[in-house]
Amino acid sequence: MQSKMDFLDKQNICGGGGGGGGVITGKFSSWSPLLLLVTLVALLSFQITTRTLYPPVLISGQPAAAVAGEESGISAGSRSCAGFYGSPPARKVVMSIEEFGGVGDGKTSNTETFREAVRYMQRFGESGGSQLNVPKGRWVTGSFNLTSHFTLFLEEGAVLLGSQVPEEWPIIEPLPSYGRGRERLGGRHISLIHGDGLTDVVITGHNGTIDGQGKMWWDLWWNRTLEYTRGHLIELMNSNSILISNLTLRDSPFWTIHPIYCSNVVVRDMTILAPLNAPNTDGIDPDSCTNVCIEDCYIESGDDLVAVKSGWDQYGIKMARPSSNIIVRRVSGTTPTCSGVGIGSEMSGGIFNVTIEDLNVWNSAAGVRIKTDKGRGGYIANITISNITMNRVKVPIRFSRGSNDHPDDGWDPKALPVVMGVSISNVVSYNSTKAPVLMGIEDAPFGGICMKNVSLLGLVSSASWHCEYVSGFADEVFPVPCPQLQDNFSSSWCSYS
Ligand SMILES: *[C@@H]1O[C@H](CO)[C@@H](O)[C@H](O)[C@H]1NC(C)=O
Ligand SMILES: *[C@@H]1O[C@H](CO)[C@@H](O)[C@H](O)[C@H]1NC(C)=O
Ligand SMILES: *[C@@H]1O[C@H](CO)[C@@H](O)[C@H](O)[C@H]1NC(C)=O
Ligand SMILES: *[C@@H]1O[C@H](CO)[C@@H](O)[C@H](O)[C@H]1NC(C)=O
Ligand SMILES: *[C@@H]1O[C@H](CO)[C@@H](O)[C@H](O)[C@H]1NC(C)=O
Ligand SMILES: *[C@@H]1O[C@H](CO)[C@@H](O)[C@H](O)[C@H]1NC(C)=O
Ligand SMILES: *[C@@H]1O[C@H](CO)[C@@H](O)[C@H](O)[C@H]1NC(C)=O
Ligand SMILES: *[C@@H]1O[C@H](CO)[C@@H](O)[C@H](O)[C@H]1NC(C)=O
Ligand SMILES: *[C@@H]1O[C@H](CO)[C@@H](O)[C@H](O)[C@H]1NC(C)=O
Ligand SMILES: *[C@@H]1O[C@H](CO)[C@@H](O)[C@H](O)[C@H]1NC(C)=O
Repeated sequence: MQSKMDFLDKQNICGGGGGGGGVITGKFSSWSPLLLLVTLVALLSFQITTRTLYPPVLISGQPAAAVAGEESGISAGSRSCAGFYGSPPARKVVMSIEEFGGVGDGKTSNTETFREAVRYMQRFGESGGSQLNVPKGRWVTGSFNLTSHFTLFLEEGAVLLGSQVPEEWPIIEPLPSYGRGRERLGGRHISLIHGDGLTDVVITGHNGTIDGQGKMWWDLWWNRTLEYTRGHLIELMNSNSILISNLTLRDSPFWTIHPIYCSNVVVRDMTILAPLNAPNTDGIDPDSCTNVCIEDCYIESGDDLVAVKSGWDQYGIKMARPSSNIIVRRVSGTTPTCSGVGIGSEMSGGIFNVTIEDLNVWNSAAGVRIKTDKGRGGYIANITISNITMNRVKVPIRFSRGSNDHPDDGWDPKALPVVMGVSISNVVSYNSTKAPVLMGIEDAPFGGICMKNVSLLGLVSSASWHCEYVSGFADEVFPVPCPQLQDNFSSSWCSYS
């Protein structure tokens, strides 16, 4: 009998939202003269606007000087997110949801109460800000929006419970960099906690819980009866100065924390939990964001613990909003069918200057995974990965292409992603079942892949690296890497010593 896990493996659902209900895959339709013209125009404008589309790293041709970052200016004090968002500010007005008539009995719907509370507190934005406290209790609510200069504070024992009425998660417009809902055409359910165009927002507490009660949504997915793309637990759009800390998030319907088109985002001291087979319950997915710091999080879920993204095929290319200056540090956890940290597969706006360090991943399908495809366009550049410990991770390091997961027929098969400058060091993996699998794209090989001090222990002796269309350099790597990583030219990319 086929188990759900087998099904998950076959569906290759990681990171996206496909699978259940059928992925709508784009096929390249006829190569019409019009499309040719559009491509030529795109190529021409690409020449002109290279500087805005590409990070400095790809233009100067000096990407890996970057890797030298260790000495140049990263001090011990910078090993915290403090530079991205300081300590949470004291707010002038502090009120409890009870003052608005909230009932924390686990049954009464508080949707209107939360909406009313935020509407009321909005007025203090320019005069010292406000904080809404949620005391101990079980507070059922549908989706509500946050406001600027605002803190949502969950006291110890406070549990927000996501409404089981789908209409309490209304449909909103699709994201412009996705062009449609990630799972279904058209709009998408709004997140439980939502914000758009905000500044200075804190979601914190004394380890209170936000429980999306996602089972209802996962069942719709499994049963192939989902009508619109599932909502996130927390989504902030077009916002800056965001802190999400010291909480437990459970059972999100879909990706758990989704900052998109944001800057200066800190996510720290979080526990994020979902059943290990709950579909697409990614932990934290920074998407077309800059200056993001994620640290000290424990995550176990049915999809990537952290996935860095930047839009989907032609929609992401058009929007050209990269994810950059991202730190992921001291994250630990497990996801049996997906990866510790994923980059992509939606990366069409570009991803650069990402540091991933001090990760501990166990019983997972992959440790570090880079995913892209033809049609994505964009780039992945200057990715620095170090001090990763893995236990019983099937494929410790995996680069892959070609999941044939496109938004619609309008994707451009000539839009090839550029992957350049990925440095991986100080990795130890115990009891992996496979050596690294590094699969680049035929007409767009991945370059500057650099590995140092990578030990994959406890592999069967027949396990060998599988590399295609990649080049780079390896030193102190065990077992012996594929010849593609012996490219002497590329040694200049790595400046560890
Ligand atoms: C490349 O990454 C390193 C390490 O994160 C960083 O110090 C450097 O500034 C980055 N360079 C560019 C051009 O983004
Ligand atoms: C919340 O914000 C979204 C736009 O970001 C809007 O569509 C929705 O109507 C708002 N919801 C409420 C209850 O105000
Ligand atoms: C985090 O929550 C715990 C209670 O679980 C509390 O003791 C601690 O002070 C909180 N930390 C911060 C920084 O608020
Ligand atoms: C917060 O609660 C979760 C779930 O109960 C627990 O696993 C975690 O250790 C707690 N975190 C802190 C800092 O107390
Ligand atoms: C969906 O499937 C589950 C079993 O996976 C079943 O218990 C449930 O009743 C179904 N729900 C709907 C809405 O069809
Ligand atoms: C790279 O990102 C780090 C934060 O991770 C930031 O401090 C640094 O300035 C960035 N480098 C460039 C060149 O933007
Ligand atoms: C490596 O990461 C682990 C967490 O996985 C951390 O405890 C340790 O201090 C890190 N080592 C260094 C040298 O930073
Ligand atoms: C190699 O990596 C391991 C695991 O992170 C670390 O403990 C060790 O110190 C590293 N060795 C060197 C020479 O950096
Ligand atoms: C690796 O596997 C061996 C044999 O199954 C076992 O004895 C050992 O404890 C495992 N090590 C880890 C770190 O899981
Ligand atoms: C490899 O590169 C180094 C400098 O990075 C150079 O000294 C050496 O001669 C090169 N070896 C070969 C075989 O080209």
